[in-house]
Amino acid sequence: MTAREFEQALAASRSRRAGIGEPFHFHDELGSTNDEAARLAEAGAPHGTTVVAAAQTAGRGRLGRSWFSPPGAGLYASVIVRAPRAAPLLTLAGGVAIAEGIRVAALLPAEIKWPNDIVVDCGLGRRRKLAGILTEGASGKDGLQHVVVGFGINLLPTAYPPDIADRATSIAAELGRHVDAPAILVECLAALAQRVAELAAGNHLDVLGRWMTLSPSATGARVECEGLHGAVKGTTAGVAEDGALLVRTHGRIEAIRSGLVRWL
Ligand code: BTN
Repeated sequence: MTAREFEQALAASRSRRAGIGEPFHFHDELGSTNDEAARLAEAGAPHGTTVVAAAQTAGRGRLGRSWFSPPGAGLYASVIVRAPRAAPLLTLAGGVAIAEGIRVAALLPAEIKWPNDIVVDCGLGRRRKLAGILTEGASGKDGLQHVVVGFGINLLPTAYPPDIADRATSIAAELGRHVDAPAILVECLAALAQRVAELAAGNHLDVLGRWMTLSPSATGARVECEGLHGAVKGTTAGVAEDGALLVRTHGRIEAIRSGLVRWL
């Protein structure tokens, strides 16, 4: 994984990315690409600026978790998005983009598990995680300044920490062959560019519709989650227009926004 390989792939795909991926910053190692992208954004870096690292020493996941980021085993990337109309649904749009990018570049049937875990179906209702997305926004006195869309994609099998080892997989492990990291980055960025443009144009329903298609577990799956009045068990019933997971429980529908959902 070298800067030059990424730069060549980016140059060959410029017309499909509407500025997402430029300027491009590659580092052999960073604490977190999200932190570096946020630092660049605070310094005025434009919409589309993309940071990739071959390794992260302090990779972060959702809900305060860490993201295991050893050298070369994953694609660790963050994109600065300056599109206020797109912001409310960027988390879901990011999931759509990464699933689509993996589908196009690796021909692997990646799915989304709410809110935006990227998983593959291993049969018997089991799913293993291939990638995750962390969107982080910063506001100033004039409202939202930027959102950083960070994504980590497991490329190669590696010694995952014990707490995630039986739930994680990689593109190479699923395909049984080498994966081209620059091609995966380029397809994810092209898909992100398309989805951000849709949201910016007010086409939220297109993004939600695509998200639903890519997320079979968002309908008819048994889950346990934190509802308004404590823990509830229920059956998934799609997503609301603001991205909340809808869960049917005791004859009513609860909108879940916390992210603490356990699939049963
Ligand atoms: C999750 O599933 O919990 C989200 C994981 C997001 C990890 C990526 S790796 C690149 C970027 N930099 C970070 O520190 N986190 C995101």
